[in-house]
Amino acid sequence: MSRSAPYQPLWLKILHGVSGILAIAAIITGFLVYNTFDGRFGKLAIPRISTIIDIHGTFAVFFFFIFPAFALYSFHAGDKRLLQQNSLQNLTQVGRPIWWVSLQKIANTLMLIASVLAVLSGRMMKEEWLPTGQLNHAWYYLHLIGWVFMVGCLALHILMSSNVGGVPLLLSIFSWKVRPEDSPTQWFSRLQNWLSNLSANSGGGINHFMQNNFPLGVIEVIVVGGILAALILPLFAGGE
Ligand code: HEM
Ligand code: HEM
Repeated sequence: MSRSAPYQPLWLKILHGVSGILAIAAIITGFLVYNTFDGRFGKLAIPRISTIIDIHGTFAVFFFFIFPAFALYSFHAGDKRLLQQNSLQNLTQVGRPIWWVSLQKIANTLMLIASVLAVLSGRMMKEEWLPTGQLNHAWYYLHLIGWVFMVGCLALHILMSSNVGGVPLLLSIFSWKVRPEDSPTQWFSRLQNWLSNLSANSGGGINHFMQNNFPLGVIEVIVVGGILAALILPLFAGGE
C-alpha cells in the first residue's frame, strides 16, 4: 500500500457499515429469540422479551434489503478483497504473510456465504413456529446453523483483518476521512465510467469466469442465487 494509513472506499464504508451493524443486530436479537423460545443447546438467564421476534424480524429484513447491494459491490468493485484465483494454493505457505492475506480474503468471502445462508433460511421460517413450540422444522435448524456459521466467520473475519492490517485496518472501515477522488461530487462521472466499462465487459458472475477467477465466479452465482431464492421461495413455501 503506497500511503501509510489503510484507506477504504466510501461506498464500501457505507455499505459495510450499514450491513455490518444490521448483521450484528440480527445475530444478537436472533440469539435472544432462541433464548426466549428454545434453549435446548444452552440458555442464558436473561429476561424473556415477548416482542423479540418482531425486533429480530425488523433488523433481519433491513439486512436482507441492503445485503444484495453490499454483495454485488463486494463481488465487483471489491473483488480484490475476496478470494483470489491463487488464494487456495497460497494456503500451503503456512505462516508466511501471503498465507495470512489469503486467509483474510477467504474470511471476507465466507462472510458473504454465511450471510446468504442465514438470510435464506430466515426467510423460509414462519413467525408462529417458535411461539407455538414447533422447534423441529428443517429451516429452523438451518437458521440456527446459519447463526453459528455467522458468529464463527465474523470472529475469523475480525481476527484475520487485525492480523493482516492491525488496528489501523480495523479502524479504516469506520473512518470518516474521504479522499477527494472518492467524494460524492465525483459520483456521477464515476458512475458513467463504471457503466461504460460494464457494457464493455459482460456482467454478472461471468466477469469472474472471464478474468480467470473461477472459484469467485462460482461463489457469486451461489450468493446471488441464494438471494433470489430468498426473495422468491417464501412466496411458494408451505413450510416444512
Ligand atoms: C439463533 C439465532 C436466530 C434465531 C433463533 C432466529 C429466528 C428467526 C425467526 C423466528 C424468524 C421468523 C420471523 C419473521 O419472519 O419475522 C427469523 C427470520 C429472519 N432471520 Fe433470523 N434468527 C436467528 C439469527 C439470524 C441471523 C444471524 C440472521 C442474519 C444475519 C438472521 C436473518 C433473518 C432473516 C433475513 C429473516 C427473514 C425476515 C423476514 O423476511 O421477515 N437471523 N429469524
Ligand atoms: C465489527 C465488525 C467488523 C469489522 C471490524 C470489519 C472489518 C473489515 C475490514 C477492515 C475490511 C476491509 C478489509 C481489507 O481492506 O482488506 C472488511 C471487509 C469486508 N467485510 Fe467486514 N468487518 C466487520 C463486520 C462485518 C460483517 C458483519 C460482515 C457481513 C455481513 C462483513 C463483511 C465484509 C466483507 C464481505 C468484506 C469485503 C468487502 C469487499 O470485497 O470490498 N464485515 N471488514
